[in-house]
Amino acid sequence: MRRSSSLFPAAAVFLVLILAAASPLQRSHLMGSDGSLASLSGWNPLRLLQREPDLPLQEKRQTVNCTDLSAAYNSECWQQLGLSNFLLGGGDWGAGWNKSTPICDTQSTDVNANDGTNCCLPEEAWTTCFLRLAQGGGTQDCSQINAQFCAMPSENALSTYLADSIRPEVQYIQKNIYAVNDFFTTYYNALTAAQGDASTTIQGLIDEVDPIKPTSFNLLFLLTALSVGLAFLGAPSIAVTVLGLSSLAKSAAQVLTISLQQAPSTAKALWPQGTQNSQSVQIGNLEAELGNSTNQLAAMINNAVQLLMSDMPTFVKFVESGQYSGAESLSLPSKVEGLDYALRTYMTSEAFAQNGWVSSPMMGPFETVQDVENSVVGSGGGDCTMGNNSVCTNGQGSALFWSQPTGRAYVFTNTVNGWAGVSAYQLLQDTVANNWAILQVLFDGSFNCTQEGNFGDSIVNFNWDGTLDIACISQLPTQIPCGATCPVALINNQCPFGQVSNDCDS
Ligand SMILES: *[C@@H]1O[C@H](CO)[C@@H](O)[C@H](O)[C@H]1NC(C)=O
Ligand SMILES: *[C@@H]1O[C@H](CO)[C@@H](O)[C@H](O)[C@H]1NC(C)=O
Ligand SMILES: *[C@@H]1O[C@H](CO)[C@@H](O)[C@H](O)[C@H]1NC(C)=O
Ligand SMILES: *[C@@H]1O[C@H](CO)[C@@H](O)[C@H](O)[C@H]1NC(C)=O
Ligand SMILES: *[C@@H]1O[C@H](CO)[C@@H](O)[C@H](O)[C@H]1NC(C)=O
Repeated sequence: MRRSSSLFPAAAVFLVLILAAASPLQRSHLMGSDGSLASLSGWNPLRLLQREPDLPLQEKRQTVNCTDLSAAYNSECWQQLGLSNFLLGGGDWGAGWNKSTPICDTQSTDVNANDGTNCCLPEEAWTTCFLRLAQGGGTQDCSQINAQFCAMPSENALSTYLADSIRPEVQYIQKNIYAVNDFFTTYYNALTAAQGDASTTIQGLIDEVDPIKPTSFNLLFLLTALSVGLAFLGAPSIAVTVLGLSSLAKSAAQVLTISLQQAPSTAKALWPQGTQNSQSVQIGNLEAELGNSTNQLAAMINNAVQLLMSDMPTFVKFVESGQYSGAESLSLPSKVEGLDYALRTYMTSEAFAQNGWVSSPMMGPFETVQDVENSVVGSGGGDCTMGNNSVCTNGQGSALFWSQPTGRAYVFTNTVNGWAGVSAYQLLQDTVANNWAILQVLFDGSFNCTQEGNFGDSIVNFNWDGTLDIACISQLPTQIPCGATCPVALINNQCPFGQVSNDCDS
């Protein structure tokens, strides 16, 4: 199991290192004079955060001028301006904004110390405070999607109290706060549109595979598979497979994937682990139930946004590779092609599973089509002639799918007694033709998920390094024949793969 995470200790170590790097002198320079400063009227903590004069400016590339407020935004500027240090402290920036900005004392009779003009209110999201101090007042709050007061000011609306020397830094951080909020807001809006598409598309599949019993879905799994959309497209295990994505979907997927990798706690806030208390949704009610669950979907996205806007180290990790600092907008249109691939793949695998379909692995590795064709001859499974979509054309009761990236092949069979429905080969062809699911994720995903011991738990998991593992999006059972040797390492002395027949002992 890989559920436990080392993120929090890692983040803590990172913070300690940063703090240790700021000398006591630097810290006292920015923090030691609270009392006298707070009594100055019009004092703005941001104004006092000055670059340490005795340290050289970072070298700049000639083409990019990050301190020129009239120049276009540039994705290199987060690094060039040292904005991570500006916020958290370290390097040129001494103690940093977090440590040098006081928390208001609401009991104080001194108006400068209690009303939030010069300090952050207790419990206030740091971004809300930052925007107020940057703009010299007003109410901006970007800690929710579709926020009422989170609109990037059209002009450079920085407070007149701000020192010139830090205007570029403040401007860039402000821009990042708005860009992150906008990204998640437009992502949520695109997801709500994608969900309708997926429900409609999948109806054809249900008609084809579901004569036996009405498939039902776990609502939390449905919402997870929906909201993982972009991150799924960015996962290394599927990037090669999904063709026909717009360049926008590709770059947005990349941006989100990098960010989540840098700040895995955001992903954990988005996709809670476990299946607790989730209601079951009948296929017939799918569209209505999903449509009815937009509040739950919004809550998942808001968990991530709130974390970013209230936890500065997480925010810094999320944005510091610079993607939200550039001139290009990351606003997603309301329709993003392919956003529902994860949802469809999950629903397809579930419909297959509940109607008796299973997959059995052949480890190979099969490197070429010939390898696969040769291995099937005489094995009792009938000859294989490789057809479209890496599925052997000759399968009737069962079909063989070859996954080129992993070199494994899978026998896809229906285990229901007297099954007389669609043939295995046809079903896989229809699956590809109708974009119901990505075969590679369906088969390799289920194999990987089972091998890792995660099958049947959460459908989104995390690797030891915090990266996202989307293998369990496929809930198609992968099983081995009675008496077969376990093809992978045992888990707790047990083969993680079940056996195709439930009565192997008889
Ligand atoms: C960058 O722009 C600022 C403000 O316009 C200017 O003072 C500075 O000289 C510029 N730096 C370079 C290297 O061009
Ligand atoms: C600085 O960070 C600490 C710990 O995360 C937090 O409690 C405090 O409120 C932050 N200060 C500001 C001004 O955001
Ligand atoms: C499954 O794991 C293999 C590595 O063993 C990896 O190459 C492949 O991309 C994974 N596929 C999925 C869908 O998780
Ligand atoms: C939608 O939600 C409302 C309120 O929770 C509930 O009463 C209603 O039955 C739900 N509709 C469907 C189709 O689930
Ligand atoms: C493979 O796909 C092509 C083009 O889509 C189609 O014309 C052909 O009939 C397919 N072959 C088989 C065996 O399904």
